[in-house]
Amino acid sequence: MNNNLKIPNHVAIIVDGNGRWAIEKGLNRSKGHEAGFINLQKLTVYMYSKGVKYISAYLFSTENFKRSEKEVNFLMNLLTGKLKEILDFCHHEKIHAFFSGRKDKLSNKVIEAMNKIEQETNKYKDRYFNICFNYGGHAEIVDATKKIVQDVENGKLDIDLLDENIYSKYLYRDLPPVDLMIRTSGEKRISNFLLWQCSYAEFYFVDTYFPDFKEKEFDLALEDYTKRDRRFGGIDYDKKSN
Ligand code: IPE
Ligand code: IPE
Ligand code: MG
Repeated sequence: MNNNLKIPNHVAIIVDGNGRWAIEKGLNRSKGHEAGFINLQKLTVYMYSKGVKYISAYLFSTENFKRSEKEVNFLMNLLTGKLKEILDFCHHEKIHAFFSGRKDKLSNKVIEAMNKIEQETNKYKDRYFNICFNYGGHAEIVDATKKIVQDVENGKLDIDLLDENIYSKYLYRDLPPVDLMIRTSGEKRISNFLLWQCSYAEFYFVDTYFPDFKEKEFDLALEDYTKRDRRFGGIDYDKKSN
């Protein structure tokens, strides 16, 4: 194992393959979602222990409403039922958690519980957990644009001052860029996740289903990330011979 690992500041993870994990074991897809949730808690603790500061986890996309009513309800109830557990977990691990996504299809009770988690944990300043639920990258950009237009109309924002830096302050959260984007389950696509924030992310695709993506699998992702040459459009002329 490489002892000089580079540690990404912001890791984004597309939690995928829960359903297939369960089906291959002869279980209902819902069992895969439950296993995924348990794994997510353990994995985040491990990632923070390695020095990662920001974790964004994709748990339900704006497109996931295309699934059966039964599965959508299960996923909604799973998160709702876990909100108290998430709050206790964040206090225990000293994590500032918050939610990204549209709130319009969520009940007031759920929104209140989400707000409580955000408010109670915002005193923690070392570890950040961005829980993306009913989240879509296009939706986030559209929602930001609407707020910008409102502020321009109200005279709060001078359109000539709008740049990438100010634009990002109108997103659900003004987060640092994603350094490492991980997708489990063998799919090699972004599925509308953090489109703005991933502009220079390193992508890591792995066949493992999410419930089996554990410490060892994350170590392998870090080793791979460490080998990447991140140039951000520039060139390190000292490294080139001509
Ligand atoms: C990820 O697992 C969780 C959500 C998208 C809600 P999936 O439910 O997509 O599992 P697969 O990809 O069908 O196996
Ligand atoms: C992406 O997974 C969304 C989440 C993990 C929440 P999906 O399983 O919904 O994505 P596709 O349909 O394979 O692109
Ligand atoms: Mg999937």
